Amino acid sequence: MDLLKLQDISKIYGELEALRHVNLGVKKGEWIAIMGPSGSGKTTLMNIIGCMDKPSSGEVFLDGIAVSRESSRSLTALRRDKIGLVFQQFHLVPYLSAVENVMVAQYYHSMPDEKEAMAALDRVGLSGRAKHLPAQLSGGEQQRVCIARALINYPALILADEPTGNLDEANENIVINLFKQLHADGSTIIVVTHDPEVAMDAERTIILEHGRIARIESNSVPGSGAQTPDSSHNKEAEAGERPARFTGEKEAAL
Ligand SMILES: Nc1ncnc2c1ncn2[C@@H]1O[C@H](COP(=O)(O)OP(=O)(O)OP(=O)(O)O)[C@@H](O)[C@H]1O
Ligand SMILES: [Mg+2]
Repeated sequence: MDLLKLQDISKIYGELEALRHVNLGVKKGEWIAIMGPSGSGKTTLMNIIGCMDKPSSGEVFLDGIAVSRESSRSLTALRRDKIGLVFQQFHLVPYLSAVENVMVAQYYHSMPDEKEAMAALDRVGLSGRAKHLPAQLSGGEQQRVCIARALINYPALILADEPTGNLDEANENIVINLFKQLHADGSTIIVVTHDPEVAMDAERTIILEHGRIARIESNSVPGSGAQTPDSSHNKEAEAGERPARFTGEKEAAL
């Protein structure tokens, strides 16, 4: 079963069709990149996947649950328990230290636990910066705090909207390596990016144009930069299997 299934998703703003009949299945452990020109609907799609916005029509299935049928209360719980969000703008609380920023996310989930928050910071290589305020951290370090915050509840799905958009190359590499590590550990990741290098690390790249899936590219060897354009179009989006060599590894890692 797909961890995420988008069934005929459209989003209309007045006259504008921000998303048009998007169909996509994402398997557990997959790493998907979403690319496309500005205004093509990437953020709109991420907001719908993250249950922060509702489609005008169509259905989102998260772990088999039809999201539109959930009450707003259980939707909040679903979002909190299953999804970790990383944004381009870091959205850290400026007067809280790194570890406290991670603990805020715990607060909404269960009980804040400093030890656990420290362990999450350690995972992103930042245990030495735990007591620093966001302003005392580099852009890359702030983004790593956000990733630690997104990971704290062990989400089934990590959504990142241009996570490296505000970073210089060195910090971008650190953040990409972190995503690689999370993916190797079995996380399911969907990342919006303008950067082909980031997309090359994903198993599949979804290219949006004018709110539609224009094409899907499969990376035969993710991380190598070798791309095999997939001639199949929108309707085939659900059919895309992960490369066989990953299947066994990933299940073993879970
Ligand atoms: N709340 C809204 N009300 C009206 N139109 C909106 C709203 N949100 C997005 N749009 C429009 O929907 C389209 C898709 O926007 P979206 O933010 O998803 O694009 P994007 O692909 O993320 O672009 P970028 O690369 O610049 O971030 C745009 O034309 C945008 O103006
Ligand atoms: Mg956007």
